[in-house]
Amino acid sequence: MCGIVGYVGPRVSERALDVVMEGLARLEYRGYDSAGVALVDHGHVATAKRAGKLANLRHAIEEHALPEAATAIGHTRWATHGGPTDENAHPHRGGTDGKLALIHNGIIENFHALKSELIEAGVDFRSETDTEVAAHLLARAYDETGDLTEAMRLVVNRLEGAFTLLAVHADEPDKVVASRRNSPLVIGMGDGENFLGSDVAAFIGHTRHAVEMGQDQVVTITPESVQVIGFDGTPAEGKPFEVTWDAAAAEKGGYPTFMEKEIHEQPHAVADTLLGRTDAEGKLTLDEVRISEEDLRNIDRIVIVACGTAAYAGMVAQYAIEHWARIQCEVELAHEFRYRDPVLTPSTLIVSISQSGETMDTLMAVKHARAMGAKTVSICNTHGATIPRESDAVLYTHAGPEIAVASTKAFLAQITACYILGLYLAQLHGGSEARNAAEVMRQLQEIPEKITDLLGRMERVREIARFMADTRSVLFLGRHVGYPVAMEGALKLKELAYIHAEGFAAGELKHGPIALIEPGQPVFIVVPSPESPHSLHDKVVSNIQEIRARGARTLVIAEDGDESVVPFADEVVYVPKAWWMLDPLLTVVPLQVFACELATAKGLDVDQPRNLAKSVTVE
Ligand code: M6R
Repeated sequence: MCGIVGYVGPRVSERALDVVMEGLARLEYRGYDSAGVALVDHGHVATAKRAGKLANLRHAIEEHALPEAATAIGHTRWATHGGPTDENAHPHRGGTDGKLALIHNGIIENFHALKSELIEAGVDFRSETDTEVAAHLLARAYDETGDLTEAMRLVVNRLEGAFTLLAVHADEPDKVVASRRNSPLVIGMGDGENFLGSDVAAFIGHTRHAVEMGQDQVVTITPESVQVIGFDGTPAEGKPFEVTWDAAAAEKGGYPTFMEKEIHEQPHAVADTLLGRTDAEGKLTLDEVRISEEDLRNIDRIVIVACGTAAYAGMVAQYAIEHWARIQCEVELAHEFRYRDPVLTPSTLIVSISQSGETMDTLMAVKHARAMGAKTVSICNTHGATIPRESDAVLYTHAGPEIAVASTKAFLAQITACYILGLYLAQLHGGSEARNAAEVMRQLQEIPEKITDLLGRMERVREIARFMADTRSVLFLGRHVGYPVAMEGALKLKELAYIHAEGFAAGELKHGPIALIEPGQPVFIVVPSPESPHSLHDKVVSNIQEIRARGARTLVIAEDGDESVVPFADEVVYVPKAWWMLDPLLTVVPLQVFACELATAKGLDVDQPRNLAKSVTVE
């Protein structure tokens, strides 16, 4: 949560405010409860901050201009400690002379104890945040050392929890000092100017040369230099990388919302995730492997950990991995897994799935699993994020930046990556499907074109959504790999349109949920392909009849040519034929479009739904 930007440029240019505001606009998806900036100007630090979206801060700055400056930091907040008010907005000042300003992403877990200590020492607090504690500690450490980098190093050694901190001081005007533990921070390397950001979107308009920071490090940037040290003061180095996407990829590209744009980018997200997955001998490969093939061959149990949409991708993975690799596989919400004392052994493989790679619940699950001796693989969309760095192996999805809070293209890329992982493990373990891996990959290669075709047929789904703008409750049913799709359809509707929505396994209907059916109740049913095994298709068609008989309004998602659903459907949305295991890559698309269109018809902000943030970096 929270977006952070830092900038130092040449004195003459004095464009720091513009650079930081532009960065904040790109990071606003990380939190939008408040925003603020601090600029260092000739021996002073000037700040402006406002509760609410970035637009509020922009208006405030228009009304009361800030001085021009060459050094600035900026913050967009997702509130944790202290409500979304002007006072709690960052930056926070430390000390009494107003010379130091600090911004923070994360949670300082021992802030109560530190705050009591500071209050006893006579410090007055202006906000309810944990951040202000760090600001005062830093000001006091600066008074002792007269060196912002050393002061930062001393302070971070007293903090517990997860944090990225950025600070400026009036007496060191050409410098931004930052630190990170369990919270993201990347450096952008410019020409006579340097940048810091929660992710590369913060500075992508200015440079593509980035440096990944390690855990527990302090960085000091000036216009001409970047210096990294560990929390113990020893010199350290970041890992340089080139950003492969440009600023346009982080903008709306002609679509009314980022979500619409990202829905339409799904063919690319799947195609790019499939790229370069086989070696010269046709064997599947992962991106980063710090684990031996032998260890992977010895895996006898897989636990997939993730949250939200990523967990639904994990549910699809469970079907694919067990079917192809014949390894016992479970899926668990990362936050539940972490604290229930799970049984883990060196032959357990933990597969984490995370778009951001920074979700704290998932990170904690991965760290715990490693500490218990399990092996870990990360499926992640963000190069160099914390979770892949903490894992033994990584498979990157290549969905590009996902800005809308509601996940769409990352979900499809995650499912694609899960299929690749399933086939990879099948090859290693000699599972039944190993010899068919090339054929499955061929069928996967056909999916992007099918998604494009499907996206061209969404007009009726949009009409239905607009017609249903006043609906108060929608149910979703699915079976086998259609079950996670039903769950995802319900989640999209909840988070975007704020209406009651629930996804069920179709087989569970008769065990309780069918009591919810009353005349007019809209129900989406994701129908398995007629070619799926065990007569699953026919079983779900029977479910449609059962709810229709009780008055449900049935909205059926079925494969092209499946006429059997027509007599029982109020509406049928057809999707292109694919191999039944790969169906989620298609059947979820109408549900994404439906939720997006319905929320838009209600006049809601689909890119930034209320109470949410893109990257959930608190537990
Ligand atoms: O970045 P992650 O994939 O780890 O995020 C996990 C969830 O927070 C995320 O999928 C969330 O559920 C989305 N808002 C769903 O659209």
